[in-house]
Amino acid sequence: MGRVDGKIAFVTGGANGMGRCHALLLAREGATLVVTDMDEKGGHAVVDEINAEGGQARFIKLDVACPSDWKSAVEQTIATFGRVDILINNAGILVLSTVQDTLDEDFDRVLDINVKGVFYGTKYMLPAMQAAGGGSIVNISSIYGLIGAPASAAYQASKGAVRLLTKSTAVDYAPFKIRVNSVHPGIIRTNMTKDMLVDEAITQQIIGTTLLGRPAEPMEVSYAVLFLASDEASYMTGSEVVVDGGYTTM
Ligand SMILES: NC(=O)c1ccc[n+]([C@@H]2O[C@H](COP(=O)([O-])OP(=O)(O)OC[C@H]3O[C@@H](n4cnc5c(N)ncnc54)[C@H](O)[C@@H]3O)[C@@H](O)[C@H]2O)c1
Repeated sequence: MGRVDGKIAFVTGGANGMGRCHALLLAREGATLVVTDMDEKGGHAVVDEINAEGGQARFIKLDVACPSDWKSAVEQTIATFGRVDILINNAGILVLSTVQDTLDEDFDRVLDINVKGVFYGTKYMLPAMQAAGGGSIVNISSIYGLIGAPASAAYQASKGAVRLLTKSTAVDYAPFKIRVNSVHPGIIRTNMTKDMLVDEAITQQIIGTTLLGRPAEPMEVSYAVLFLASDEASYMTGSEVVVDGGYTTM
């Protein structure tokens, strides 16, 4: 018996990194997956991996910053699977620069993908969840949506916004039995961080106050996402789940 048996789950940025692991784990626990990304090759590879493991998945190309992509992806999902129970708003990008060094177009790009991507996803998926009688939305923020860090102006603005967009949505859609929670990963080994976690000395510098003394593997975040997505978290909405090895504890 899987922890999300029979549910239809939709993951953005599912071709790589944490999104890929969220999709794989949800599928292993019984969900049917809609894997979306701009990276078609990576997305198809994840779908093939899920299907090879005996799961059920399909890929839809989706730029989270594009409302017409969202409308089409939701339509295709409903046409294929009939409903959506779980939405994982995971896609995101990182630009590292101070306020003064951040180009206007970079600030816009980060907010378009990291914040408007979550806004559009939520907006266009809500009718399907309302029709299904409820659902679970998991928004991926960051520890940098909770505390400050050097040279991350646009990224921090975006992840802070995701934190409170989550709570706003939780308030408005609780009457529809739609739960909305945010996940705040610490330093995780993915493409996003691979150029930073290059050797042990620099890795130690970047993980900073992480009590467990190491970066995490993506799957260590996926278990928190799975929990929030599942009915096990039936009394959780508007909450922040921090998965940071203790980074923000002290
Ligand atoms: N890696 C970390 O340490 C870390 C820490 C905290 C939060 N996060 C957040 O976790 C999420 C996943 O990050 P990751 O580390 O797995 O990154 P990643 O770069 O490994 O994967 C991101 C995925 O998002 C996709 N993507 C990018 N722009 C997109 C768009 N406009 N539309 C659709 N897909 C798009 C990429 O193609 C890629 O497949 C992001 O929201 C990120 O900000 C990452």
